[in-house]
Parts: sequence; C-alpha cells; structure tokens
Amino acid sequence: MINEKSQVGFYSKTEAEPFRRLRRLRMNDAFRSMVRETELSPKDFIYPLFVVPGKNVRREVRSMPGVFQLSIDEIVKECVEVKTLGIPAVILFGIPEHKDEVGSEAYDEAGIVQLAVRAIKKEVPNLIVITDVCLCEYTSHGHCGIVRGDEIINDESIELLAKEALTHAQAGADMVAPSDMFDGRVRAIRTVLDEHNFHNTPIMSYAAKYASGFYGPFRDAAESTPKFGDRRSHQMDPANSDEALREVEQDIVEGADIVMVKPALPYLDIIRRVKDTFQMPTAAYNVSGEYSMIKAAGRNGWIDEQRVMMEVLTSIKRAGADLILTYFAKDAARLLR
Ligand code: PBG
Repeated sequence: MINEKSQVGFYSKTEAEPFRRLRRLRMNDAFRSMVRETELSPKDFIYPLFVVPGKNVRREVRSMPGVFQLSIDEIVKECVEVKTLGIPAVILFGIPEHKDEVGSEAYDEAGIVQLAVRAIKKEVPNLIVITDVCLCEYTSHGHCGIVRGDEIINDESIELLAKEALTHAQAGADMVAPSDMFDGRVRAIRTVLDEHNFHNTPIMSYAAKYASGFYGPFRDAAESTPKFGDRRSHQMDPANSDEALREVEQDIVEGADIVMVKPALPYLDIIRRVKDTFQMPTAAYNVSGEYSMIKAAGRNGWIDEQRVMMEVLTSIKRAGADLILTYFAKDAARLLR
C-alpha cells in the first residue's frame, strides 16, 4: 500500500514507501514499554485528606468509597503510609467544630488544619504538606467568602484568605493552595506571606477552576455545600477556554508558583493549552466526581476499575499535567510499585 501523500506531511511523495506497519512496536510488552511516551510515577501524585475534630475518627464518605474523614491521630498514620508509598505530598482540607458567617476557624491558629499541619510535620517531616486555602468549609452558609445580600464579596474575603494562608504557613505548611477563585487573592496571600518572612513558601493556585457538577461528592466529604445560591460568580464557566488562559496568566503575574486546572478529565484541553502557553509547573485536580464515577461503575462490574483509573491518570499526565491531585493516589502508587 503506497500512500499518495502522508497525512502528517512528513513525506511529500513516496514512490516506494514501505508498508508501514505501526503495529510492529506494539507486538510485545518490551517494545510497547520502550516507546511509551507517558509514564506515571507515585511522585506525580498529591493525596487529598479531610481532617475532622476528635480522636480515633475514621468515617468513610458516603459518596466516595475508600475516602475517609480522619481525626488528627488517624491523619498522621495515613501520612506515614502515603510517604511509604512514595507519594511526596498531601493536601489538607479541614472540617471545623463550629462554622460561622465569616469562617473564623479558617484563620484561627488553633484551627483544625493548623493543628493537623503541626502534628504531621512533627511525625512525618519529609512529607510535603499543602493546605487548601478557602472559607467554604468554615462558613455557616457554605460560601467561599463573606456574603452580603446575595453578593459574595471579593476584596474583604481575600484579606481573610491571606490571614488563613499565613496561619497555615506559621503552623508549618510547606505550600498553600488558594481554591476560591476570587480576584487578587494570590497577590494578597503573597504579600502577607512575604511581610512575615515566608518568602520561601510557594503558592499553588487553583488558577482555572470551573463551576463544576463534579464537586458534588467533595461537598459531602468537606461538608461545604452552599446553603443558597452557587459558585458561578467566581468559578469559571465550563464553556470557556481563552478565559482560562487569562486566569492562569493573572495568577502567575501575582506570584503563583504552580498553576492548577480543575476538574481534570472534562478539561484536558485546558491543561494542554495552559502547559503549552506558560510552561509552568502545572497541576490538575482529578476531582471527587471523577473518582466516584469510576468507583461506582467499578463496583457494579461495568468497568475494570484499576484499568480505568490508570488510563485516566495517564491521560491527565499526557495532557500536560506535572502533578495530579487525586483520591486514587494510594491505589495507583501500589499498582506502580
Ligand atoms: C473549595 C474546594 C472544592 C474542591 C476543592 N477545594 C469544592 C468547591 O469548589 O465547591 C473540590 C474538590 C473535589 O471535588 O474533589 N475549598
């Protein structure tokens, strides 16, 4: 079979092009592995953890089989295991004892996340501890900032987020990760951290975060479902792509060290554009709904859970993500060993 013209245009005209058998390099495992373009490693993963008050608490999240709300003593044990599996980092979400209008526990130095960070850094010092910086888990209304009337107020909220990030850094967090999508939060956080000599604490910003239905199970886990309204006045419209580049650029200008796209699977095109455009360390959040769908279908015997998990994680990396936040981190790391 002689091609008149190669589809990809490498050859203009070939009189005697050999029969190109692309299957030759797929015939056995050894060849397939030699030419594999994307390789997953436990080093790619960041494992999300939910910390709750109390002792000996290990409560499975109804909509996320295999994911638990953990008290600090249990989180520390979990972190030992995570480190042993070769996963370099965790990201912490806190569920406080009390919620109020302004999310006070979020920026309390004795808040649940601040205490958890101290405990983990003491027992597992080599594990990178990242903290999610947001108010939605701490406010009585479940919004990510201060609410007045039906407006989620931007500028006052970012001051609180900066305060929250500072208390995380003071507790020993290695990196902070603002997930609110308010304007100017990265600058506000960078400024406050620098003023307090945390100029070496990096910021991983949820830079292109979409208003997504895929966060449903997380809101069960973090008890952060908004009591009224939604997050569309700050999170991005799923229909937009150019706007994601403006969001990411803005965060880089304000001082973000790692930029994140979230969710991952429905936004692989965005991950690729962000990576190609900025060449920044790029993270992608394989979110709760993406996890739960695979778990549910796997449990029903409709798909091969492990195989689909590895395919999904590989595709996120192939799209351009250097780091993947995923509830599958431990399962995938075990398979990769
Ligand atoms: C906000 C936050 C959310 C997630 C991470 N940080 C939820 C939201 O924006 O409503 C979602 C993560 C997931 O779905 O796994 N603090």
